[in-house]
Amino acid sequence: MKVRIDPERCQGHGRCYDLAPDLFGEDDEGYGTVLAGGEVAAGQETEARLAQANCPERAIEAGNG
Ligand code: F3S
Repeated sequence: MKVRIDPERCQGHGRCYDLAPDLFGEDDEGYGTVLAGGEVAAGQETEARLAQANCPERAIEAGNG
């Protein structure tokens, strides 16, 4: 699985990096970034889905490929 943040949608709510700090970080202005190029390791899918479900802007895309 891979995750991606749509920069057009992200408003810096920070739930992604609070809930899934292994997968997401923040830039200097508090906007979300993906770590490791967005690669989600085996066993981290639940964390990825949790972050995706909790982004108020629906900015996180998660999928295969
Ligand atoms: Fe941005 Fe959503 Fe995270 S608005 S900082 S991608 S929780």
